[in-house]
Amino acid sequence: MPSLPCAELHLHIEGTLEPELIFTLAARNGIRLPYADTADLADRYAFTDLQSFLDLYYANMDVLRTEADFTDMTRAYLRRTAAAGVRHAEIMMDPQAHLARGIALETCVGGVAAALSTSEADYGISTSLIAAFLRDRPAAEALAVLRDLLAMEAPIIGIGLDSAEVGYPPSLFAEVYDVARAAGLKCIAHAGEEGPPGYVREALDILRVDRLDHGIRCLEDEALVQRLVADQVPLTVCPLSNVRLRAVATLRDHPLPAMLARGLNVSVNSDDPAYFGGYVDDNFSALRQSFGLGVDDLATLAANSFRSAFISGERRAALL
Ligand code: HPA
Ligand code: ZN
Repeated sequence: MPSLPCAELHLHIEGTLEPELIFTLAARNGIRLPYADTADLADRYAFTDLQSFLDLYYANMDVLRTEADFTDMTRAYLRRTAAAGVRHAEIMMDPQAHLARGIALETCVGGVAAALSTSEADYGISTSLIAAFLRDRPAAEALAVLRDLLAMEAPIIGIGLDSAEVGYPPSLFAEVYDVARAAGLKCIAHAGEEGPPGYVREALDILRVDRLDHGIRCLEDEALVQRLVADQVPLTVCPLSNVRLRAVATLRDHPLPAMLARGLNVSVNSDDPAYFGGYVDDNFSALRQSFGLGVDDLATLAANSFRSAFISGERRAALL
């Protein structure tokens, strides 16, 4: 089955670190990993919830030390995702996770941005960068990092909100989003992955997001679904992620077909492909197998990804 041309809108670049690259970067930087080999590491990818994944995700980032490490990680993702059919990617990174380890903004942002600046020529993929803030760290820290990113004129098009969701409602970050919006940045936030529909409402009402990451728990609130349908708010859904983090029991229980049937603006994305069993093409294959999605549904999902991307009308026309 040929890959479906689409845009990827929900992707954490640090979640693309494959076990092999983790070992390569560790060797390059003289870091001793607490795993015997790549198989031993991969054996630990049996997650019970979001936090159990985040613990490993943050630990493995320690191998990223130099600008070249960030560039190599990003290039590896672009190479792989080009084969997955991705023509445009809006890529999140977690600056605070690197700052907390003593890695400068210039190093982590500069390293990722260097790979993105030539993505079209190198891989045929247009790209943009989103700085995500960690909701389980203080909002004041997020605000300080945002101001630093603005001061250094970091090449970002928007901000996101990720990490442990429950207990950290969007409203905590109202000021961060106000500053970002005033600076002309797009506003995106994870909401309704593990958190309740009320968090989705807060992301809409208080953060005034342009796009929601996940959002699957919106289905528990009929009035909220109607609002999301009426406004065609983009929801970047990540089926294999939801299975691996046990937001749903099995792929067959995934609400994506129901969301499509309701007329929600959903797209298919990979989230942290190195950890969750695959890239966008793997997500589409799994959906086809579980649900036998037809040509019309697949075309809708691809069209939704392009119309929900933060790109010019000209670029959209070229992609369609
Ligand atoms: N959810 C929340 N935060 C994250 C994720 C995720 O799936 N991946 C990386 N940070
Ligand atoms: Zn995510």
